[in-house]
Amino acid sequence: MTELGPVVWPPAPIRTERLVLRESEARDRAAVIELFTSPEVNAYLGGPRARDELERTVPEVPGRRPGLFVVEVDGAMIGTIELNRRDAEHRGQVRPHAGEAELGYLFLPEAWGRGYATEACAAALGWFADARPGAPVVLCTQTANDRSMRLAAKLGFTEVQRFEEWGAEQWFGVWSPPAPSD
Ligand SMILES: CC(C)(COP(=O)(O)OP(=O)(O)OC[C@H]1O[C@@H](n2cnc3c(N)ncnc32)[C@H](O)[C@@H]1OP(=O)(O)O)[C@@H](O)C(=O)NCCC(=O)NCCS
Repeated sequence: MTELGPVVWPPAPIRTERLVLRESEARDRAAVIELFTSPEVNAYLGGPRARDELERTVPEVPGRRPGLFVVEVDGAMIGTIELNRRDAEHRGQVRPHAGEAELGYLFLPEAWGRGYATEACAAALGWFADARPGAPVVLCTQTANDRSMRLAAKLGFTEVQRFEEWGAEQWFGVWSPPAPSD
């Protein structure tokens, strides 16, 4: 994954009905390590990482880069959303070599099943549609990842293709921004 391209970063925190999306801060480090060491979170992402390795290598302020939002509820981090530039060598492109944006999401299991990921991703897509008018967003997820497949559908992603990668069937979809109303 490489960085997103020309966007103003960081934006002002984005507030939804229940959540805040903001740039990462030092106080998020423990939750970021939880995300990457959780077997549930990483079940379809190559498995959990070793805690001692992450304690050594995660920077004091983790994940501070354009396109990476920390999602918080009542002041506590519950997950991250990323919009990255999809590497050109990946299979699955709607506009090959255009450096299109790809959505990724990771939420802590205790926050699943409450609609938080849908609410947060919709807000991030809204931010992106303003920051990069007309640009599509792509998403790739294992078809076996039921929760992620349901989330992609709820957000309005539609299937472009399925293919085999990393020993599993992958679903590759695209989201197009709403047409301007005026
Ligand atoms: C993928 C992931 C973000 C989905 O999380 P999620 O909590 O299931 O997603 P949503 O925010 O869409 O929540 C939907 C659920 O909340 C329920 N819900 C409860 N209250 C709700 C509300 N107020 N509004 C909407 N939905 C609500 C819905 O009924 C739904 O439950 P169901 O899936 O059992 O039917 C999460 O499972 C995750 O982080 N997985 C690990 C990381 C991963 O695999 N990422 C994919 C990388 S491509």
